[in-house]
Amino acid sequence: MIDRPGARGLPVLDLPNPRVGKAAAPATRPPLVDGRLEEYLPEPQALPRFFLWTLGCQMNRSDSEEMAGRLLAAGCDEASELEAADLVVINTCAIREAAEQKVIGRQGYLGRLKAANPGLRIVLTGCAVREEERSGLARRYPAVDMFLRPDEEPELVDRLGLASAQAPIGSVGSPDSLGSLGRVGAVGATTTVGRHRVGVADGLAHTRATAVAGGTVARSSAISAWLPIVYGCDKTCTYCIVPFSRGPERSRPFDDILDEARSLAVAGYREVTLLGQNVNSYGHDLAPDARFRHVDSERWAGRRLDLHGRPDLAELIRAIDGLRTADGLPAISRLRFVTSHPWDLSDRLIAAMAECPSVCEHLHLPVQSGDDAVLRRMGRQYTIEHYLERLASIRESVPGIAISTDVIVGFCGETEAQFEATLDLLRSVRYDQVFAAAFSPRPGTPAAKLPDDVPPADKRRRLNQLLALQESIGLERNRAWQGETVEVLVDSVVPQRSHDHDHEAGDAARASLGVGEGQVHLAGRSRHNKLVHVAGAAQFVGQLVRVRVEHASPYALRGTLA
Ligand code: SAM
Ligand code: SF4
Ligand code: F3S
Repeated sequence: MIDRPGARGLPVLDLPNPRVGKAAAPATRPPLVDGRLEEYLPEPQALPRFFLWTLGCQMNRSDSEEMAGRLLAAGCDEASELEAADLVVINTCAIREAAEQKVIGRQGYLGRLKAANPGLRIVLTGCAVREEERSGLARRYPAVDMFLRPDEEPELVDRLGLASAQAPIGSVGSPDSLGSLGRVGAVGATTTVGRHRVGVADGLAHTRATAVAGGTVARSSAISAWLPIVYGCDKTCTYCIVPFSRGPERSRPFDDILDEARSLAVAGYREVTLLGQNVNSYGHDLAPDARFRHVDSERWAGRRLDLHGRPDLAELIRAIDGLRTADGLPAISRLRFVTSHPWDLSDRLIAAMAECPSVCEHLHLPVQSGDDAVLRRMGRQYTIEHYLERLASIRESVPGIAISTDVIVGFCGETEAQFEATLDLLRSVRYDQVFAAAFSPRPGTPAAKLPDDVPPADKRRRLNQLLALQESIGLERNRAWQGETVEVLVDSVVPQRSHDHDHEAGDAARASLGVGEGQVHLAGRSRHNKLVHVAGAAQFVGQLVRVRVEHASPYALRGTLA
């Protein structure tokens, strides 16, 4: 059943005039297309200065870019820090309890900020806002004024009462575009998954397309861009909160994605990462289209996924790869995608990865456990044998491809022997990178009903053991790059005194890099997704450079410009 939100009144948050007596922030609004509209701009004092606090995965970061864009288009300015804001939007993650606790633990501080600044309003969105949990949200997050589910985020500006009167004409938040949003009538809709009421992302494809067309996505990088292709998740991994936070899968129309990719190429983006909880199932929910007549059913194991005439990820990456410059090179140099579910990793996709020059030689393929019985309890829908067959196939088609994965240790009932099977898997696969975490029961998920019977001390020990093993494997994998020359997309200047683990404790790295006169410490990624440090001119940021690798650590490479 789908509840149509058009029928319900949207609660609008009352935002008092927050700027009185405060210094104005630098103007960051999009310029008006027609200067004659200047006199109709809202008084800056009437608009809040916002701060977006984003936790969680790339999907959340992408969503935040869209929300920031909407607020800027409505005329708001961005505050440089939380304490300087009149409006704080917290984009939460709920994947593990610790992620939710990060925000719950800040409620007292936020409450004190509100006491000092009665004009401050706090909006909480992201995966912690689940329909089923609505009644408990205000108790858990007492400092928060308004809660929006992830699929309700496009309503932010409207609910704040900022849209209709104040947004620049023609922007996403304008009365016109919100009118059409209203006609779609799907933002805020819910459906049921099992017996749970969940938000459904029916409106997001449309609101994304409007934001892209209006140029209002406030992208955080001018070099690499996120590009969401499918919202929600149809899998039923028993430990996972995501299907309850983000609802069932909704693919964006093929041409909308292609248009967005084209606009990114025109804007000079070097790298695009396609996003979805399971990008490999892209397209199965779209209408059949004669252009994709040749696309057939494509699931290697388990239940057939009938695509018959619908686009899939393979078609999509071929089409994006097919965007070319006048000299025939891919208009977007690097194409990546996350996350791939092993069950849906099709031969068609593997072939497309091998044949498209822009697709990077890296695949993130979460395995979660090395033991079939644990995988079954996790509801992962593949066995280790299936997983290894897919891995062998991709390694054969894309020689030298870097593989990363996710692992959960201490899942319900995981024995020492089952944990050892995961270590054995790491030893035999030799992943380039492993993102591991201890199992954290999430309320409402099927696994929450299973006994969480691995003691916390054992979870910690297993996690440390696994990370130590992977550190030595990662080092060995990275050492294989020594002496090679790799293409690096430089994305940042590492600040002096960086204490970021990834950036190898700044000063030591800088000394060993031999940063010379007129040079800075640069960082970027190779096509195999290796973090690479190199000394060079600051102008190299945003450029593809060639680096000769001279040193390897478990997490990064270091070299000199070739
Ligand atoms: N869709 C992706 C997939 O199929 O693996 C990843 C989604 S999730 C955002 C990222 C990772 O979080 C998962 O791969 C899993 O390892 C981890 N994760 C999810 N739920 C968890 C839980 N309850 N406890 C610990 N880790 C969890
Ligand atoms: Fe969660 Fe599984 Fe969906 Fe990934 S595929 S988001 S782990 S339910
Ligand atoms: Fe977290 Fe939601 Fe992403 S739970 S990992 S922000 S999809």
